[in-house]
Amino acid sequence: MANIEQEKNNRVNIAKSFGSASKSYDVSARLQRFSGKHLMSWLPNRHDLTVLDLGSGTGFFTDLLASTYKQVIGLDISFEMLKFSEENRKESILWLQGDAHKIPLQNNSVDFIYSNLVIQWFEPLDEAITEMLRVLKPGGLIIFTTLVDGTLHELKSSWAKVDEDQHVIDFKTVKEINTLFHNEKSMLIEQKCQDIILEYQNVIHLARELKGLGANHLAEKKNRGLSGKDKWFKMTEHYQDFLEPDGIYPATYRLFSGLVVKLNH
Ligand SMILES: C[S@@+](CC[C@H](N)C(=O)[O-])C[C@H]1O[C@@H](n2cnc3c(N)ncnc32)[C@H](O)[C@@H]1O
Repeated sequence: MANIEQEKNNRVNIAKSFGSASKSYDVSARLQRFSGKHLMSWLPNRHDLTVLDLGSGTGFFTDLLASTYKQVIGLDISFEMLKFSEENRKESILWLQGDAHKIPLQNNSVDFIYSNLVIQWFEPLDEAITEMLRVLKPGGLIIFTTLVDGTLHELKSSWAKVDEDQHVIDFKTVKEINTLFHNEKSMLIEQKCQDIILEYQNVIHLARELKGLGANHLAEKKNRGLSGKDKWFKMTEHYQDFLEPDGIYPATYRLFSGLVVKLNH
């Protein structure tokens, strides 16, 4: 019971964190833009389809999907993200506030789910996958990207030299993702994993971008009262071990892209 409460609280924090980033998000979303576009080659050619953009954020890709597909639904847990989307995106899109662990849609009602850089936030992920498969029609697709273990390893190891707290979320391994999507109800039919290295002028620049993306809820929670300026300073010193010759700070994002089909039985 305590765990369920904790998971719910976590989701409220995630929604708040993304909500407060809804206006700054689009300018600091270099990674999201890259990964979302990269999924386009897997999109189905037919146009008469119902699509769910799961964790639609500011609706940038929901809007693109709506130029091709008949019915597009954008679902997000954050009210502010949805408000921003409603004001800035195509009127034909249906916006829904909801949790991926309890999708407010009927069984077998969606042709494909598009989800860009969202499922790393789902806890427990297997429950969210069960929900995705429930709303998908048989033969329907999940086209997604997520971040996997190895992401932000520079930040993680720099913090590890300072204290034992968790400053970066735990990303699943590629093996775990394979196991979760490969079961009696679904099959991971295509996958790709690549390291995207983004460059930052300093560690504050990186922290700001993570904050702008709303990806800071864990850091905020754990840092409170625990790691003051001194710890932060020490961490930035360790980060310098990764410095590139031109003085640029790299951060690795290990991007996993997957194409999943819901089996017919
Ligand atoms: C990194 S953003 C990606 C947004 C968008 N897909 C894009 O590519 O720009 C992640 C989004 O997932 C949403 N999110 C996180 N957990 C969620 C959950 N359990 N259910 C629905 N949405 C969730 C957040 O509110 C946020 O808008």
